[in-house]
This record gives sequence, structure tokens and C-alpha cells, in this order.
Amino acid sequence: MSTAFTGPEFTLIPDTSAAVDVLVVGVFSGDDAITVDAGVPDGARGPVIDALTLVGATGKAGEAVRVPAPSLSGLGAATVLGVGLGAAPADGRVPAETVRRAAGVAARALDGVAAAATTLSEEDLAATVEGTFLGGYRFAEFRNSSAPKQPPLGSMALLAPTANAGTEAQARDTVEQARLTAAAVALARDLVNTPPNALYPAEFAERAQRIGSEAGLQVEVFDERYLAENGYGGIVGVGQGSSRPPRLVRLKHVSGVDGAKHVALVGKGITFDTGGISIKPAAGMENMTSDMGGAAAVIATVILAAQLGLPVDVTATVPMAENMPSSTAQRPGDVITQLGGTTVEVINTDAEGRLILADALVRACQDRPDYLIDTATLTGAQMVALGTRTPGVMGTDAFRDRVAALSQAAGENGWAMPFPEELRAEIDSRVADLANVGPHRWGGMLTAGVYLKEFVADGVQWAHIDVAGPAFNSGAPWGYTGKGGTGVPVRTLLAVLRDIAAQG
Ligand code: BES
Ligand code: MN
Ligand code: ZN
Repeated sequence: MSTAFTGPEFTLIPDTSAAVDVLVVGVFSGDDAITVDAGVPDGARGPVIDALTLVGATGKAGEAVRVPAPSLSGLGAATVLGVGLGAAPADGRVPAETVRRAAGVAARALDGVAAAATTLSEEDLAATVEGTFLGGYRFAEFRNSSAPKQPPLGSMALLAPTANAGTEAQARDTVEQARLTAAAVALARDLVNTPPNALYPAEFAERAQRIGSEAGLQVEVFDERYLAENGYGGIVGVGQGSSRPPRLVRLKHVSGVDGAKHVALVGKGITFDTGGISIKPAAGMENMTSDMGGAAAVIATVILAAQLGLPVDVTATVPMAENMPSSTAQRPGDVITQLGGTTVEVINTDAEGRLILADALVRACQDRPDYLIDTATLTGAQMVALGTRTPGVMGTDAFRDRVAALSQAAGENGWAMPFPEELRAEIDSRVADLANVGPHRWGGMLTAGVYLKEFVADGVQWAHIDVAGPAFNSGAPWGYTGKGGTGVPVRTLLAVLRDIAAQG
């Protein structure tokens, strides 16, 4: 078995004289000619632009073009890889996400290269590290080592930024925090990419316990017997159709800081979603291995909070179950009792995520957190509304908008969505307090959010992030995102924790 992807070695360099195989430079498109990023030294700019122009580089985002390094340019590199940054911004400040994606594009072109350097770090050091690490990410756990794969990029030397220059120690700290962030995203990707026969609730819980404890978290795992005896009717109901019983995992980062805010995180951990008795069609069902993407993101984030020593208390509550059809599975028409006593008519067993999340939200609120964020691959309707790359953010108005804005800034691009008041009556039930689905599919992402809202305690600032599309890339690689698990929304959650740590 291979081990987790650890990324290239990152070093800081004062200039571009270092002898490397490849120097990665950013390329801007222009009306008449391309230009290159500010880190390319004056003497090399003209020759590098000429060489890239000669092979047709346009500077558009997503482009990667490699040329021999021009002689007499003073560069230590053997070759130059130009990666597109799009049009040069009028204010000269390239957005972090643009740099992150370009670094990712470069990393995907650098398999098999031993030593590279880059000037992209002059634009944004942290984004360059994150993009390089995540673009080079690979998941080889289930591949025989004899498979014809090149070794990953060995090292990336980062031109130390001169604009906004801090001390070298600050630059090193920036690199390390970015590396830890990318590693957390990679952890979430690994968990999502692990196939459903290898990652079932008990195994998922065990891994969470192991990696959580290693990071210094307090971890508790509750088994199916505990859940049944303590009123977790949603997790038990969804999990009862599988021979592999459900779990609930709680992971705590205790900051030790006086007066620190308490943030509760909740993530959907359906290790595989067949739909249950309301079974899904076969086409694309294999992608339902990603239905624990919310859980993976939340586990990775609380670990990251501990590694970064964030001055905020974080408690992750993670329900895990496998949604299977069997003679012991719950039926459409069953009435279950969620933690806290709310009864629910299960009209559609494929709307299982909200059932396990409701129990977890109630449990999370028992701790009286200041903020509560849940994330889930909850509805196909999220993709109908927003496409495959844009998370839907719902919740209490002010915090929802804050989370969406932070998600935009983090480059994960969450978008605020409403709870139209007429939706609540649509989940009234003939026999129980609530039904788990409405009578039609319009606004299905919002209906799921309205369902969850019923289980959030009054006074808690709450955000719900639906990542049904964004958590898993079933298309071609782009930017720093390969096929499979993406690790979204780890960077959004980190941005929110950092913002709460700074502003309260
Ligand atoms: N896990 C799915 C949602 C999903 C769909 C995630 C596609 C990723 C890609 C969820 O459990 C589900 O099945 N939702 C149903 C809800 C419906 C029955 C109200 C859906 O979206 O069809
Ligand atoms: Mn489902
Ligand atoms: Zn699901």
C-alpha cells in the first residue's frame, strides 16, 4: 500500500539563478503581445516572452507551454514552463485564486520533474504553494506500483516575494501554513477517493479517531448500539439497511484561549448512497462514493485547526452510515424519531442525508456553540441550480452571507441562497411532525435546507453548505483540481474559522 501524497519539498530562493529543470512563470494575455509575471528578472523578460510567443503561448487561463530556457537570459533553469494567468489586472494585483489555479496547471505538467522553481510566488506565495501541492495531488492507494506512472514533482523553489516583503521567517511561516492547508484538502480528497468497500462507517470512524488523535484532538466514537439507545433515530434509520452499521464521531479542538468562540461543524458521512429502497438508477451511481465529502471536509478542517493552533474552539460532529436497500432497510412511509423527539415520515429513502444530519445538528446544538456550519453532498438540485463547481450556502441571514463572502475570497466560490417562506409547509406530513421530502422537485436544494433549519437551536448562527457537485470532479482535471474528490469546502471552512478567530 502506498502512503498519502505529501507534495513536493518547498524552499525559498532569493533569485532565479538556481539550477533547476523547470522554471514556472506566469503569462498574461494581451491585445498585442503576452507579458510575464513580475518575478521574472528584467534581463530575462524579453527572451522568455519571445520564446513563449514562438510556440504560440497566449496566456489564457489553463494554458501550459514549455520551452528551452533562452540562452544568456541569466536564468538557472534548463526549461521555462509558461502558465496562463489571463489578462493582466488593471491594479496589478493578480487574484489569489488565479495564481492558485495557474500553479495547479503547472504542477499537473510537472510529473516526473525532479526540481522546479517558480516566479508565481512573487504574485502570491500561499496560493502558489496550495496550487502546486493540490495540482500535483494523486491517489495511488489502489494502483499496483508497477503501473506506468511518473514520480511526482520532487521540489519547488519559490522566489521569495519582494512586494509586501515581510521577514524571511514570515515567508517560511506562510509556506508552512499553506502546505498544511493543502495537506488538509488532500486528506479530504483521500477519504473521498477511498472506494466504498474500503471506507464504510466503522472504518471511517476508526480512521477519524486515529488521525484526529495524532493531531491532538479529543475524539469519541459512538456505535450503533449507543445511537439506538440514545435516540439517534435518523442515523439508525438510514444505517439499518446495511450490514455495516452506522457511527457518530465527535472530534474536538480545544484552543485553550480564554473567551475563544466555539464553532460546531457537522458533515454528512454517507459512505455510499444507493438511495436505499428508493433506489437510484445505475448510471453514475459509482460517484455516490463521494457522499461522505462533507464529513471528510469537516474532519480535515478540525485537524487543520489544531495543526495551525487556531484560537477558536471547534467541535466536529460527524454522522456516518451506508444507505443500502435490504430486508432490514427503512421503507418509504416509515416514521422515525430524530434526536430531540421530532418525528419524520420517510417518504423517500434517498433523501437520507438530511436524516443523519438532523440528529447531528441537534447533538451539536446541545453544546450551545456560537456558530454552526454543516456541509453535505445533499441534493442533486444543488447542481441543477448552481452547476458542478459552486456550493450553495444557506442558513441564518448574516452568517450565511459572511460564509458565502469568505468562500468567494477563498476561491471556492460558495453562493448565498434563500429560504422562501412557502417551502416550510411543503414538508408537512400526513402522519408525523415532518416529511423528509416535499411534493415536487422545484427548489430541492432549498427544501433540504429548510428541513435542516428545523433542527438548529434558536440563537445559533448557522450556515449550511451544499457541495453535491463541488465535492467531486467527475469531469476533466482543471486548475489544481484533478478527477475525483476535490476537498471542497475545506478552504471555505478554514477561512470562516480564521475570520471568527480574528473578528469574533
Ligand atoms: N447524495 C444525494 C445527492 C447527490 C446527488 C450528491 C448527486 C451528489 C451528486 C442525496 O442523498 C440524494 O439522493 N438526494 C436526492 C433528494 C431527493 C430524493 C429529494 C436527490 O437529490 O435526488
Ligand atoms: Mn440519497
Ligand atoms: Zn446522499
